[in-house]
Amino acid sequence: MKQKIAEKFQTLFLSEGEFFASAGRINLIGEHTDYNGGFVFPGAIDKGMIAEIALNGTKKVCAYALDLDEYSEFGLNEEDAPDQGWAKYIFGVCREIIKRGGNIAGFNTVFSGDVPLGAGMSSSAALESTYAYALNELFNLGIDKFELARIGQSTEHNYVGVKCGIMDQFASVFGKKGNLMRLDCRSMEFEYFPFDPEQYGYKLVLLNSCVKHELVGSPYNDRRASCERVAKILGQEFLRGATMEQLDAVKDQISEEDYMRARYVIGEEKRVLDVCEALGKGDYETVGARMYETHWGMSKDYEVSCEELDYLAEVAKECGVTGSRIMGGGFGGCTINLVKTELYDAFIEKAKTAFAEKYGHEPVVIPVVISDGARKLA
Ligand code: GLA
Repeated sequence: MKQKIAEKFQTLFLSEGEFFASAGRINLIGEHTDYNGGFVFPGAIDKGMIAEIALNGTKKVCAYALDLDEYSEFGLNEEDAPDQGWAKYIFGVCREIIKRGGNIAGFNTVFSGDVPLGAGMSSSAALESTYAYALNELFNLGIDKFELARIGQSTEHNYVGVKCGIMDQFASVFGKKGNLMRLDCRSMEFEYFPFDPEQYGYKLVLLNSCVKHELVGSPYNDRRASCERVAKILGQEFLRGATMEQLDAVKDQISEEDYMRARYVIGEEKRVLDVCEALGKGDYETVGARMYETHWGMSKDYEVSCEELDYLAEVAKECGVTGSRIMGGGFGGCTINLVKTELYDAFIEKAKTAFAEKYGHEPVVIPVVISDGARKLA
């Protein structure tokens, strides 16, 4: 990928730049908890974005998306927003840096990535983090890593229209090879957890349903609004820390839908903590049981699953897979599966054939390799 980027950069700009990369992410458990001030448990993966960048001495950004074969040129003022969706991410990152007082100028760039788009693996966070990290280095801005993650998140809020939490950008900036991270999204304290399921005889694999997940203009923001309404009625800033007793006490003041959304979030908060504890003991059976609970909570109460992903979780259960659930924001994308090594081949085979019979195509199998987040490449 780096070679192709370099060739294109040379052709377009007749020069060479520096290389930066960042990663997509998985999340073992803790879905839709981030914007509720709860816990998440993600890790960066070996699929991400790479960008070559060189300052160009102007006030313009000249950007080329290699995978789409599209070029965009834009200024750095608010009114200069580009039309192309992908360019809005780069523009947004620039604007958010400028809003924070960062003194940046024009640059040339070519980028490419291998995070499948719309699979719930945060290709957009990978793109944002690559540029936030790179511009911080290239312009010597001295922005700390948390703020780099927030720059990506604000880009989503203000230039893409998704009121996302901090998980994806956090994972993509802080990711560390071989480690998951438990992040408390209220205090922003986090801990690395060495994660090596193979040592215990398990594999972690994603199955991409190829149903495109699209959070822009989606009911994602509605889910967040439901949670905020309930938190407000409970007199809390976030749903974090609320109990089922508290929720039941206000049941007649909220809609049935808001009740279901909050019930899911309250359950999910407990599940993340259970999983961390179980992992500490090497108790993967408990980890897996919680994953299934998350799946059905997301499907029935949070209503962010879809038929195809419910089917994949059912097939997993039938095959004796330890844990399986929809991963990420929902509305399509992947399931994440924790599978005993000896069941792996049979499960993959069965999931492929059964899914293809029902939906006309196989799910894409993506083995998970926990890797480093944002960085400069040599
Ligand atoms: C998307 C958002 C994240 C998070 C997840 C759900 O990936 O970007 O902030 O809310 O959905 O856990």
